[in-house]
Amino acid sequence: MTKGQKLLNWVDERFPLSSMLKEHVTEYYAPKNFNFWYFFGSLAMLVLVIQIVTGIFLTMNYKPDGTLNGAGIPVAFASVEYIMRDVAGGWIIRYMHSTGASMFFVVVYLHMFRGLIYGSYKQPRELVWVFGTLIFLCLMAEAFMGYLLPWGQMSFWGAQVIVNLFGSIPVIGPDLSVWIRGDYVVSDATLNRFFALHVIAVPLVLLALVVAHLIALHEVGSNNPDGVEIKKLKDDKGIPLDGIPFHPYYTVKDVLGVVVFLIVFSAIVFFMPEMGGYFLEKPNFDQADPLKTPPHIAPVWYFTPFYAILRAIPSFLGTQVWGVIAMGAAVVLIAFLPWLDRSPVKSIRYRGPKFKFMLVLFIVSFIGLGILGALPSTNARTVIAQVLSFIYFVFFLGMPFYTKNDVGSIPVPTRVTDTNAKRQIRFAVLVVVTVVAAAVFAMNV
Ligand code: HEM
Repeated sequence: MTKGQKLLNWVDERFPLSSMLKEHVTEYYAPKNFNFWYFFGSLAMLVLVIQIVTGIFLTMNYKPDGTLNGAGIPVAFASVEYIMRDVAGGWIIRYMHSTGASMFFVVVYLHMFRGLIYGSYKQPRELVWVFGTLIFLCLMAEAFMGYLLPWGQMSFWGAQVIVNLFGSIPVIGPDLSVWIRGDYVVSDATLNRFFALHVIAVPLVLLALVVAHLIALHEVGSNNPDGVEIKKLKDDKGIPLDGIPFHPYYTVKDVLGVVVFLIVFSAIVFFMPEMGGYFLEKPNFDQADPLKTPPHIAPVWYFTPFYAILRAIPSFLGTQVWGVIAMGAAVVLIAFLPWLDRSPVKSIRYRGPKFKFMLVLFIVSFIGLGILGALPSTNARTVIAQVLSFIYFVFFLGMPFYTKNDVGSIPVPTRVTDTNAKRQIRFAVLVVVTVVAAAVFAMNV
């Protein structure tokens, strides 16, 4: 017996290390037909680690203090400038963290979209999906509170606008928004509590939810692009016929995803950390000034689809609360997909034309709303945002009707099939063309 094996035995007698690795890695049988859509779960974990590690280092020099220093600059804003200019390696840590925030949403949106096209939320994975939705909510809260910390103009006014929304809730609204801020306006008290929530409270919940997400997934096993339950067909040793051990097959495959991701991530960090004002917004390079409202207040790009829904709903009976309700519903409805979708098949490959048609409309509405939410509103844009919001809700609320009995001409196979690379490339090209066309159109109306 080698020294390494002896050590492992020693540990195993005191902690179930080998059996855990077996259960979750070397003998976790995953479907053999995973395609590139399956990279985004492990990439989300990578970004989570990047955010936590860079966040710890940022915290060593950042000061959550909204008061003005001797030069008339808020201490928090000045501490971020200090990190960027004076702290050794500070700039790269900060750019990794700010780029990481946006890339987290890129990865998570793609991860969720995969769930949508392959019906991964359907029975028996409902709880995997519900935990995922809670993760998404936490991620939004985490990003929102982190955005206040640099105490720039957009940090301040963004927080002001969003916290004020709570004020429109009947009866409790005004008190609630004061309670959230800890003051009558966004102030030092708000900055301090958002800091506490951003660096420790929400990350703890996020980590716990990710663990729950993975435990739930490993309990039922992964879905796959064919939506075939591989556990139904097993060999005489009880191993799924279409399963392969996660390690080494998918650990190696995931390395490819990680390498491609890190190339893109580094390119952004080193060559375009502001991403044309989308990852780091231009007004946020000015210190927060409670007396000067920026001409156009827009949230960071990942919130813009929901922000566009909020703006699209007009006030009614003298209250803005309808927009707030619509925005909240747009997020919460996602959690109900497992019960809204009544299709007898999971994967888009075997679905009928109705779901495919609605999915295309949904993609157009989500991206269109995202673009509109980033632009200042005009009358024409508001009308388009209303139409797109309507489509967004029809996609969810109409789902029980249009998915019922909506199956394609090809029956679901009993075994998984090979992936069709051509079909995936065609689909990717279609998505890119749609995004570019929508952006050009929205900018011209
Ligand atoms: C911090 C964020 C998240 C992390 C770290 C994470 C991690 C993972 C990992 C590692 C997997 C297995 C690998 C894979 O299938 O890609 C997975 C699967 C899954 N995740 Fe997430 N996830 C996150 C957020 C979400 C969100 C927001 C949703 C949906 C609302 C979601 C829904 C799912 C579903 C349905 C599966 C199973 C997919 C299948 O088997 O086809 N996840 N997740």
